[in-house]
This record gives sequence, C-alpha cells and structure tokens, in this order.
Amino acid sequence: GWQYSLRPRLLNEYIGQTQVKDNLSIFIKAAAARHEALDHVLLFGPPGLGKTTLANIIANELNVNIRVTSGPAIERQGDLAAILTNLGDNDVLFIDEIHRLSKTVEEILYSAMEDFALDIIIGKGPAARSVRLDLPHFTLIGATTRLGAIAAPLRDRFGVQCCLEFYKPEELQFIITRAAEILNVKIDKEGAMEIARRSRGTPRIANRLLKRVRDFAQVLGVEVIDRQLADEALAKLEVDRYGFDRNDRKILTTIVKTFGGGPVGIETIAAAVSEESSTIEDVIEPYLMQQGMLNRTSRGRMATRETYRYLGIPFPENQ
Ligand code: ADE
Repeated sequence: GWQYSLRPRLLNEYIGQTQVKDNLSIFIKAAAARHEALDHVLLFGPPGLGKTTLANIIANELNVNIRVTSGPAIERQGDLAAILTNLGDNDVLFIDEIHRLSKTVEEILYSAMEDFALDIIIGKGPAARSVRLDLPHFTLIGATTRLGAIAAPLRDRFGVQCCLEFYKPEELQFIITRAAEILNVKIDKEGAMEIARRSRGTPRIANRLLKRVRDFAQVLGVEVIDRQLADEALAKLEVDRYGFDRNDRKILTTIVKTFGGGPVGIETIAAAVSEESSTIEDVIEPYLMQQGMLNRTSRGRMATRETYRYLGIPFPENQ
C-alpha cells in the first residue's frame, strides 16, 4: 500500500551537509522575497549523497514546480528547447549528470542560463534562419559527481556551487533511525550505528542496507534490529567491519597484490578488475581516499600504510 517516502521534503528535515543547507536556506529566502528565480545551482559530490533529494527540496521550499531530467537524456537541441519553453516562471529544471550533456546542447544552454533566451536555427542550407525564443526565468540545478568533469564556461554560469560531503556516522545513524520508523521496523541505537558505520558515508547505501538487514530480522524472527543482528546480516552482505564492500576490497587488493602497491594508472586498474574507469573514479575511489586507503598521484594510484594494515600485509618500508 501507500508508504511515506524515505526522502525528506523540507530543508529542516534534511540531515547533515550543514553548511550547504544553511547557505541554500539564505539564498532561497532572498530569492523568494524578491519574487525572482533562484540563481542557478551546481551540486557536486559522490553518488548517493542526496543531490536529487536536495534539488526537490529546493523547488519545494521555493514553492515552484520542478522538471527532472539528465544529461544523457537530452539528445538534441530541440529536446532542451521543448523542456525550457514548457517551464513556468521561476520553476526549477534539474539536470542530473550534467557533465554528460552533448556539446551542441551545452552551447544553447549557455544563453538560456544567462539571458533566458534560446537561439535556434530553423531549416537547412540557404533557407536556414536563426530564431530567438524568450524563455521564462528559471533556476537550473545541475548535478555532477566531479566538478572537474564539466567545462569552465558551464561551471561559471552557476551562481551557487555546493559541494556535498560524505556523512558522519552519527548523521547516518539519525537517517537510518528515521527511515526505520517510516519502514515500520524496530531498530535500537547500536543497531542503527552499526549500519551507519558500514554505509560508506552514503545515505543511499544506508537505506539499502537497512532494508536488507530488515529482511534478515523478519525471516529470523528477530523483533528489534540490534548490533548483533546488524553485524550478522552485514557479514552475509559482504560488507566488512570497516564498511568496505567487494568492490572496495577488489580495488585495494589489486593495487597491493598485482601492482606492488602502485603507483598504477587508473586504466590499468580498470582492466585488471574488469570495471569502467569512470565507475572506479566516481563511485569507488572517493570513499577509499576519504578513508586514507588510497592516494592519487601524478604517476597513478598508490596504496597507503593503512591499506597494508587493512589487508594484513606488511608495509614495504624500503620504497
Ligand atoms: N535520506 C537520504 N538522505 C537524507 C538526508 N540527508 N536527510 C534525511 N533523510 C535522508
């Protein structure tokens, strides 16, 4: 039946990212008081930290409609023109994976963002002519996993730029406790903390693990998820005591055992583990680096002293 969404709808229901939240709250209030569209907002950070959630909250707080799409979904200039001309005044357009927009689409986006106008070429050959279409004032919210992946001219057109960071265990514990209430499952503080510590700093992962731990609790007839049940279930899900999953371990083991701890290039690692290099860079590496398990150097990726300790292999001191 009907269930409450796990996603918060208001800024004050959104846990963590305090600085981003506080700043956005000011910009939203100011724009709303002026009855203007909020300046364009760029959200960047690893996947699963709540960029889409935040975009929806911004629209909700501004009391405007939101249109959601993604970089790869906008194939031609006409696709973008259709979306933009159908927006209402001060509406939000959310483009996820904005770094994956095609060059031609990106080019007409510039004038749309800056002048709220579209210059479209109609027809072909000698009959071709340029037509300027006026657009409603709107707020573009772009999301990307890497700030470096988007071109400077695009990046510079975002008046508000927010970097999302990995969540602290205490924040995830709060998010898990709230999600458990919505999912109608009982969990104690230690159980929630155990899942929190092992969720790679990421609410999306925390919510997914909570649902799987709930399955174990249900089938085992355990009434309240406590630390022991969470620990047993997470072990079965192959999430270890440090919160690393199979992919994390595969990358770390490969760098240490196959490439002597590095430095080794990202493409070489990708080939060795049969994974897309972009997935390794955007999804797997950020958390490993934050945990001090990996360094990016100009010569390639390197394991750290921590990596060797984690894998239980003596650190080669004479390097
Ligand atoms: N669910 C997912 N992310 C969240 C967040 N940052 N705050 C509250 N609930 C969430």
